[in-house]
Amino acid sequence: MSYQELVLKAMEARRNSYSPYSNFRVGAALLCADSRLYTGVNIENASYGLSVCAERTAIFKAVSEGAKKFNALAVACDTDSFDTAFPCGACRQVMAEFMDDETDIIVSIKSGEHRVYKLKDLLPNAFRL
Ligand code: THU
Repeated sequence: MSYQELVLKAMEARRNSYSPYSNFRVGAALLCADSRLYTGVNIENASYGLSVCAERTAIFKAVSEGAKKFNALAVACDTDSFDTAFPCGACRQVMAEFMDDETDIIVSIKSGEHRVYKLKDLLPNAFRL
């Protein structure tokens, strides 16, 4: 699957975003090494701190289904600018738990334009045990 296709999957998933408080819709698509694909959306809560990001939803879905190796993760934010399209720090740390430094993280905006980063570029010197 091309990264453009992975971004499209993340954009499709974004339709299911539950984000009535921020109105900031996010989708994610996680490609497993065995070719399985898991999507995720941000899911907010009236108790704001309980909200979860799209990236973590996708990762937790995959891990709970037994997926262990991941090739790439695309995130699709409903924004026109890359300034507001990057994963938050908590998600970067969760990525580091399950992905190695060389894993590609694809960041995209509303138009579908995307940029590819290595996880190590988004989270240098990641803490792992
Ligand atoms: N959010 C994500 O789902 N992923 C990101 O990469 C950044 C932020 C969500 C969390 C919250 O539901 C909303 O976007 C606004 O912060």
